[in-house]
Amino acid sequence: MEDLKNQKTEKIGEIQKGRRRLEQRSEACFPITIGESRKFGRSTPVKFQPFLLDQWLQSHAEPPIEFDLAASTGPHWTLQELLQLTGEEAPTGWLELELTYSRAEGMTRLREAIAEMQGVPVDEVLVTAGASEALFHAFFLAAEPGANVVVPFPCFPPNQSVPEALGLEVRSYRLRHQNAWRVDPEEIAALADSHTKLILVNSPHNPTGATVADAEMRWLHDFAARKGIQLISDEVYHPIYHGEPTASAAALPHATVIGDFSKAFSLGGLRLGWIIERDRIRRKMYVNAREHLTITNVPAAEYLADIAIRHRDRILSRTSEVAARNLAIVGQVLAEQAEIMEWVRPRGGMTGFPRLKSGEDSRAFCQAAARHGMLLAPGDCFGMPDHFRLGFGVSEEWFSRAMQRFAQFSHEWSHTRQAM
Ligand SMILES: Cc1ncc(COP(=O)(O)O)c(C=O)c1O
Repeated sequence: MEDLKNQKTEKIGEIQKGRRRLEQRSEACFPITIGESRKFGRSTPVKFQPFLLDQWLQSHAEPPIEFDLAASTGPHWTLQELLQLTGEEAPTGWLELELTYSRAEGMTRLREAIAEMQGVPVDEVLVTAGASEALFHAFFLAAEPGANVVVPFPCFPPNQSVPEALGLEVRSYRLRHQNAWRVDPEEIAALADSHTKLILVNSPHNPTGATVADAEMRWLHDFAARKGIQLISDEVYHPIYHGEPTASAAALPHATVIGDFSKAFSLGGLRLGWIIERDRIRRKMYVNAREHLTITNVPAAEYLADIAIRHRDRILSRTSEVAARNLAIVGQVLAEQAEIMEWVRPRGGMTGFPRLKSGEDSRAFCQAAARHGMLLAPGDCFGMPDHFRLGFGVSEEWFSRAMQRFAQFSHEWSHTRQAM
């Protein structure tokens, strides 16, 4: 009996020693107490708002609608087309790939390729499960009691719902149709205070296609650096521009930059993105968080992403050419529909955000368009019901036919409304 008691005490002693060792080790990167829950100051459980945009897209995914004008990417690639960029039918590296875990930071060769493309040291690059995971890490890290984040409105919906779910106060700066969707750096500065953890800028912007000029981005960067606030530049549509191109914020020493393979590269099925983070402690914390969440990326996807980066001239010019040609068609059709709708021509990316001049909710319009074989995205998914998102990057083959049908449909729609 006494022996058993001694064994138990010894065991508890060992567990305690083990805990202390773990705590010391993790303290070297950030404070954590193993075995004790940390007070987080939250009074409500983590809950996401419904993701209206995704629900709308998913509800029309099968059977697919004839013309997808709701997509936010460029032209699709098949696996075969991507592999053939290497000059080989099926590169041996692909066939011999070991399907094991990758590295938590991302495959080294891919990180090097991204670092070279972005002109930053490889240590600063982490590969994530899409820009979505990169954004999640940034908000997750910012989630401290009493903290706030400054994000655009309208925006890619998770940029509002994720920080909200994490208990952060979300302060939105507005992009206004009347102001050609311009970002006003001074409005952003006025929203920030000593509790602001991060400022998010998205250029080219989803859904409007607005861009932030280099001088404005530098102004915001210098402001954020002075105040000790993290500036995040979400550049998933860079470098697709339809006018004056802008530089990546990777050239600015304190900016955190988020990019991906889904938009400009149009390889959304790889589910990969990256984050360029200059702050060593933040990098450690992102990696720690991802070790808890997704552990590593899928090596097969990283292999293909590496090919995409190394052949980016071909991929990005295809996106750019298709988007430019289709944008010219949209411009013409919307000019003909000027009595019914108005828009600000996108300066970048593959989406625009027209407005119904009647001011009515566009959901019924989008539902009727879907019945006529055209998938659009209702503006209420972005909190602006009188707008709708129109994607113009996904295909060249059928785009002009789709826009002809769109023109006829819009015309008939407005006549029916007037008769009511
Ligand atoms: C502005 C913006 N950022 C990030 C994302 C996330 O993209 P992904 O996770 O596919 O890289 C999206 C997707 O639509 C987006 O529009």
